[in-house]
Amino acid sequence: MVDLQSQYAKIKDVVDPSIAEVMESAAFINGPKVHQFQKNLEDYLGVRNVIPCANGTDALQIAMMGLGLQPGDEVITADFTFAATVEVIALLQLTPVLVDVNPVTFNIDVAAIEKAITPKTKAIVPVHLFGLPAEMDAIMELAKAHNLYVIEDNAQAIGASYTHSDGSKTKAGTIGHVASTSFFPSKNLGCYGDGGAIFTNDDDLAHKIRGIVNHGMYERYHHDVVGVNSRLDSIQAAVLDAKLPHLDSYNTARRNTARKYNEAFKDHPNIVTPTGLEHGDSSDDHVFHQYTLNLKGVDRDALVAHLQSKNIPCGVYYPIPLHRQKAYMDERYNESDFPVTNALIQSVISLPMHTELDDEQIECITSTVLNFIQTNK
Ligand SMILES: Cc1ncc(COP(=O)(O)O)c(C=O)c1O
Repeated sequence: MVDLQSQYAKIKDVVDPSIAEVMESAAFINGPKVHQFQKNLEDYLGVRNVIPCANGTDALQIAMMGLGLQPGDEVITADFTFAATVEVIALLQLTPVLVDVNPVTFNIDVAAIEKAITPKTKAIVPVHLFGLPAEMDAIMELAKAHNLYVIEDNAQAIGASYTHSDGSKTKAGTIGHVASTSFFPSKNLGCYGDGGAIFTNDDDLAHKIRGIVNHGMYERYHHDVVGVNSRLDSIQAAVLDAKLPHLDSYNTARRNTARKYNEAFKDHPNIVTPTGLEHGDSSDDHVFHQYTLNLKGVDRDALVAHLQSKNIPCGVYYPIPLHRQKAYMDERYNESDFPVTNALIQSVISLPMHTELDDEQIECITSTVLNFIQTNK
């Protein structure tokens, strides 16, 4: 699904010296590279504060801790996402409230959020799924009306911009009260191990979070709040700082691939291609962490098996909705609350998507998919 070796080969000449600098300085924890990357990412995103941490799951947890959410507080998030989002809600003894998603964008459904709000609701966590920002204008409006926090899970959409209803654009992850991201190697901006960060324009919240990531310390050996140990190590920061200048071109490469896939599958009666390319070639509305088709009247699992038999990687994100995962089942949920998610888990398939795909590979992938559908009607 990804080709990190070819990507590394192209940037080796900047990544290796950046790592070597850390090795030579021996500043492995909280070294200058971490600070440098943090500042560069703040500038890139146009956000006041980036707080690096160990991974995207920690970033979500720390954001919730920073907001002071308390056991029993309800947090609304999407049923159709990676488990990390709901995991940290449950871990903090908050109450996860899973809601359905939009069938076109696959992102959290705003009407379903509104329906799920109760007096106990304290926060909404929109996940910018597969690289496309959720409907942030409507979500922020709803949050304002009900006095709720918005925590953007930006693990899959770094570099994407959200287009507001007035046409202006803001980087995903800088719109809500706080946001989290992951630098897992396969992410659009990935390091060579684990990494993550929290973003916020709220300086007080940022101060609080900087203490939380460091054992709740604001002054050495003074532990004012319960914290965690969650650090982005300097070697990973060195990798990320070397890769950050390439992020826009990486995302452009992903969009170009998505456009070629869309073209090959255009107007096919059995294939719904992803939305997000409507605003033209230079638009960064969707950064295609995944390229996900929604199949109609096709045996998805048979297609997966067929692609695998041809050594073409593919993925099903996500095969089981969170409300049906053993850890998160709850009698509050009814299957009828999740018609879209329940359909998507059976019909979606993600095709290879990364910065190194060439036309020959794209042609091979698309023709294999199309031939399978043609011969299995
Ligand atoms: C939507 C989403 N949230 C959170 C995470 C967690 O990130 P990490 O693996 O860095 O903990 C991921 C990672 O896959 C993700 O896709």
